[in-house]
Amino acid sequence: MYRNTPHPVFLRDYQPPEFLIDRVDLRFELDPERTSVEARLQVRRNPAATRGDGSLRLHGEQLDLEQVSMNDRLLTPADYRVDAESLTLLRVPDRFGLMTRVRIHPSLNTALEGLYQSGDMLCTQCEAEGFRRITYFLDRPDVMACYGTTLVADRRRFPVLLSNGNRVESRDLPDGRHLVRWEDPFPKPSYLFALIAGDLSAVEDGYTTASGRAVELKIYVEPHNLDKCDHAMRSLKKAMRWDEERFGREYDLDVFMIVAVSHFNMGAMENKGLNVFNDKYVLARPDTATDADFEGIEGVIAHEYFHNWTGNRITCRDWFQLSLKEGFTVYRDQEFSADMGSRGVKRINDVRLLRAHQFPEDGGPMAHPVRPESYIEINNFYTATVYQKGAEVVRMQANLLGPERFRQATDLYFERHDGQAVTTDDFVRCMEAASGRDLGQFRRWYDQAGTPELSIQADDDADDGTYTLTIRQHTPPTPGQPVKMPFHIPLAIGLLGPDGQDLPTRLADEPSATAPGTRVLELREAEQRFRFTGLPVRPVPSLLRGFPAPVKLRFAYSDDELLFLMAHDSDGFNRWDAAQTLLQRLLLALVADPEVGIPDQFFAAFRRALLDSSSDRALLAEVLTLPSESYLGDQMEVVDIDGIHHAHTMLGRHIGERLGEDLLRVYRDNGETGPYVFTPQASGRRALKNLALGYLMWAGDARALGDCQSQFAAAHNMTDVMAALRLLVDHGGAEGAQALDEFYRRWSRESLVLDKWFSVQATSPRPDTLARVIQLMGHSDFSLRNPNRVRSLVGAFCNANPVRFHAANGGGYRFLADCVLELDPLNPQIASRLLKAMIHWRRFDHDRQTLMRAEIARILAIEELSKDAFEVASKALE
Ligand code: PHE
Ligand code: ZN
Repeated sequence: MYRNTPHPVFLRDYQPPEFLIDRVDLRFELDPERTSVEARLQVRRNPAATRGDGSLRLHGEQLDLEQVSMNDRLLTPADYRVDAESLTLLRVPDRFGLMTRVRIHPSLNTALEGLYQSGDMLCTQCEAEGFRRITYFLDRPDVMACYGTTLVADRRRFPVLLSNGNRVESRDLPDGRHLVRWEDPFPKPSYLFALIAGDLSAVEDGYTTASGRAVELKIYVEPHNLDKCDHAMRSLKKAMRWDEERFGREYDLDVFMIVAVSHFNMGAMENKGLNVFNDKYVLARPDTATDADFEGIEGVIAHEYFHNWTGNRITCRDWFQLSLKEGFTVYRDQEFSADMGSRGVKRINDVRLLRAHQFPEDGGPMAHPVRPESYIEINNFYTATVYQKGAEVVRMQANLLGPERFRQATDLYFERHDGQAVTTDDFVRCMEAASGRDLGQFRRWYDQAGTPELSIQADDDADDGTYTLTIRQHTPPTPGQPVKMPFHIPLAIGLLGPDGQDLPTRLADEPSATAPGTRVLELREAEQRFRFTGLPVRPVPSLLRGFPAPVKLRFAYSDDELLFLMAHDSDGFNRWDAAQTLLQRLLLALVADPEVGIPDQFFAAFRRALLDSSSDRALLAEVLTLPSESYLGDQMEVVDIDGIHHAHTMLGRHIGERLGEDLLRVYRDNGETGPYVFTPQASGRRALKNLALGYLMWAGDARALGDCQSQFAAAHNMTDVMAALRLLVDHGGAEGAQALDEFYRRWSRESLVLDKWFSVQATSPRPDTLARVIQLMGHSDFSLRNPNRVRSLVGAFCNANPVRFHAANGGGYRFLADCVLELDPLNPQIASRLLKAMIHWRRFDHDRQTLMRAEIARILAIEELSKDAFEVASKALE
């Protein structure tokens, strides 16, 4: 069916590179239509490698080769071989200089990998394998070189020319051109190379490191965005300070630069000294960005900055080790955000994300371990498993070691491996060396896929005051891994007495009493028993406090016990989780029987929580938010799309009706009082207020509609404007249409705000949404070439609007497949990520299964399909 079935790469086939490259000098003559790249490489045989056949094969794709010379001698086509993916030099000495000159075409590069054009600027994206679209090279992370980069371009069109490291030369050339030369003293893998050329302005600031070095900080943006960089700059300085204090890591160059570009496949990229960002994660003003945007910027700025040590100074040996840098760096940015805002709320949101994306991935056809063992296209493996589960695996080790030992272990890691390309196993070895612990069994977290399920059973013996937890772990099979070994799982638990206080948790074989509070049990067997003694009454167990491991829990709590935990647990995370479990139960009961009554005690508990003025509002908003429709679907044997949507709407309406007066008071008591500030308190107020307004709108409360309209008209911050707009759009009618028109008129020239206009329409549960989305695909502001725009319309519809995307007539599926087919030749990364919205087809009823399978098969039948989409489609149907 397909011309060339792409082949997978396997971790077990890893071989060290036969050649190393110590130094690279690049010279770019930049032009969007036709750029010339001259590369001078200092190559030598790798003493640590086994000898090959004496030839050197360099990666290179979509390059027009013009010249090759070795040790300054011009080579002829008899000396080398070129194909679509490589340049092979047939006989090479042990050490030599190699020069290649190629032509590339940035303006034709729609895949946004390599050198491409975004608006009026030129920029690069090299991770994972984009450098080979710039020049011939050993494009693999275990080849680390020092780079010198000379950029030549028209001075008027491209006044700013940036690359990694420090600027060492800058001068004018004849014909209106100019030249800038950059030198990066730190050896780096090719995926960290970057260049930027454009008419950019910079916000500048400075930072003095703990040891007294002065660092220039610059954020480059298009001139009209200069007023949207304050928050990013503040976040950067906070991240730099935090990394010194928490991990002892200082910045190491004279300048740190961030550039915002509007066409970007991912969130941002940690290129050495020159981070390139999707502008969504840089630009914010209170009137253009929501609290979630401000939060995202703070987290992503920190994430990319933290990569300077976890990724750049110490990098990955090969792409199977991706989580070495990503899992660890996500853990670091999570901890940073927890320290900057509210730790409890941060944990809730991280776990929400893990459950919403990683758990389904682990249970689906693309399931893979944190350290995958094979891939067809590495770009398909920038996943929730590698990032978020990888962070959980680091978090478990941090918790097993405790803060001091963990810090010693990371210090050791930085000292031992600085300047190297290493593996996740090297990381674990540092954890072991610093703590003296054996993490042999723990390593399974890196190589077994799937989410472990813990079934816990409690037995008490009133006579002798013992309480026994019997814990079984089971991990379902995943593709290629039918049988799993037991994991080493840290379990933080507490036992609550009747007054809601923590009881002592003394195990039967322990000689002395333990203090009341949380304790960590370590589960290693498939089944294990923990017997607690000295308990005067049967406790209510608080299991998985703070979510200590990425597992699913099964425990037969009664509704009363959940209400009790929700009210009393000393662990904030578990108070939230108890509330979520209760809501989930209620909603699933409504799915099974729409006539089922909602118990009064539910409304009473909801009301108590709502009016609890002592509680942190941000946390409260989390507690009172219904579990999402897709998460509810994940809890069902067969996802009942319409039943879930109906139950969700019904419960929301009941809450709005029964608690109308209280909700209205909460709404009005939490209004904005002054200018916008981004603090946990202020954003907590906004979250709670808008949640209350949402329930009221669900109930069709006439007063709320007026409040919504005035909030939309009067608010000066995008959080409140968007909350109101969403509710008005979902409400529909003239009010919704008018609000959309007004919003468009005001913001059509701010592309990040316009993205919100697209996505608020794409995610509306209104019955005509698909028709509207198809119409918007033809809107003059829509373009398949801008990933943010595609995500805001197509991505939002397919991933965040289950009831309309999964419409029983298959219209949503057909729409997605059409988009994938149109996008794939332009930008395979974005196409293949969209396609993932359909791979969980087995979770649905027979008719939907058939419809989805047919659409995936239609995609797979295309001969020229990218490797990216091929891998996803073929694995989905396996
Ligand atoms: N390495 C980037 C990050 O997580 C993500 C990325 C991957 C960006 C591939 C672009 C391409 O920080
Ligand atoms: Zn990263």
